[in-house]
Amino acid sequence: MVTYGCCGPELAGSALKMDVLGSWLDTDWIPDHAQQNPIMLFSPQYIFDLSVLAKFVPDFALGEDYRFVDITPVDCPVALRMNDLDYVGRVTHQTGANIYVFARDEERVEVMVVASYYTDEVNCWRMTCLAAVPEAFIPVWFSFSEECKRLSEALEATDKVIVIGGKSESFVPKVHWDEIVLPDKLKHDLMEDVSSFFTKGVDVYRRLNLKPFRKLLLAGVPGTGKTMICSALAKWALEQKHVVIYVSSAVRRQGTDYGASFDKIEQALSVAASSSLPTLILLEELDAYLHEEEKALVLNVLDGNESEINDKGTLLIATTNYPEAIDERVLKRPGRLDRIFIIPETRAAVDAEKMLRQYLGTFWQDDHKGLIPALVGYPGAFIREVAVYALTQCAYDDLTELSYELLERSFNGLKSQLDARDDFLKKRGGMMFSSPVNIN
Ligand SMILES: Nc1ncnc2c1ncn2[C@@H]1O[C@H](COP(=O)(O)OP(=O)(O)O)[C@@H](O)[C@H]1O
Ligand SMILES: [Mg+2]
Repeated sequence: MVTYGCCGPELAGSALKMDVLGSWLDTDWIPDHAQQNPIMLFSPQYIFDLSVLAKFVPDFALGEDYRFVDITPVDCPVALRMNDLDYVGRVTHQTGANIYVFARDEERVEVMVVASYYTDEVNCWRMTCLAAVPEAFIPVWFSFSEECKRLSEALEATDKVIVIGGKSESFVPKVHWDEIVLPDKLKHDLMEDVSSFFTKGVDVYRRLNLKPFRKLLLAGVPGTGKTMICSALAKWALEQKHVVIYVSSAVRRQGTDYGASFDKIEQALSVAASSSLPTLILLEELDAYLHEEEKALVLNVLDGNESEINDKGTLLIATTNYPEAIDERVLKRPGRLDRIFIIPETRAAVDAEKMLRQYLGTFWQDDHKGLIPALVGYPGAFIREVAVYALTQCAYDDLTELSYELLERSFNGLKSQLDARDDFLKKRGGMMFSSPVNIN
């Protein structure tokens, strides 16, 4: 008997059931189809996953011009028909016997597939599957199997961000693009770059025979809104039915802390490669991945040499609070990062006002404008803190209005904390992050 597919320890456990299925094929199917010399093949589970078969495009050419038509159930006393459901309640694996029908013009080819559950030596449920494939049809069957594999891995559009290496498997991004306050041109350029890559750029890359893989870096001091931008872009991308993958840098999972390790980037790229949809990868704190042991691997990925990229396009958006930790080899070498956006602290009074109004909500009063000049130059996170602190004071004191004095007190309190911290860090030897490197 010819077998292929995964032959791990479960094969040993399944031998008995497989023998039963095999002898049923030997007596009930093969004699009637002897002229085609059916060969028994051990087949992977995605072959009898109905959710995979449902995704098969009817016109998909399998080679030698064959198409997959359908499956026809048949009775089989040795394989119960049982169904497995996925997390949203769709039928996935269905055991039992089915004739898989393929067509080329008027010609029909039939493959008998029989799948069954069995229990292994530790009483775990497992599945096994055999297919009786006409010998001459094996190459076509192989391409059918490969396409089933691809479909089983291909991601579908969801409303959630897939998390790699984080505490939870997915999250729903809530930040709206309008909530982000940035200089107009920068904000416009950023969205333009991201959206036009998916709408027009991917075709251009393809025409130029390049992998459709674009890499952007958002750089800026902490608290300027880079994480917020990622979240808003994630929300936008999900609305466009793109796949969004978030690579989490330093979270403990299942007892092992593998922090900013290259494995995660590799995993994200492989998920992106198997996607049949445009894919956005968010990689926060790129600097953390550029430690000596793995830097070369990360550079290779950025060069796009080793990564397989799905042909609908993959956009990688990395962020850093410490661009000076990213060496010249990454920043300056053409092609490694396609564009660097510096995300600045608040630069204009209008932006500081927009942010303060946003975070004060209904507590905003026109006389708060007096504080605006003092807020210019601070990151958005600081302005939000000033507002949140002042609002908490209002809540504690049961105030229905926020006076200018209380707002100013909140600002002064937070500013002196910040100054004291900066002084401390300076004395400790200049750990403080200076203004962002100007890279264009
Ligand atoms: N440009 C901005 N516009 C609006 N809010 C901002 C901005 N920058 C920071 N904030 C506020 O500060 C919070 C923290 O910012 P964050 O995105 O984590 O900064 P970074 O990732 O650059 O360190 C945000 O969730 C948001 O509430
Ligand atoms: Mg951040």
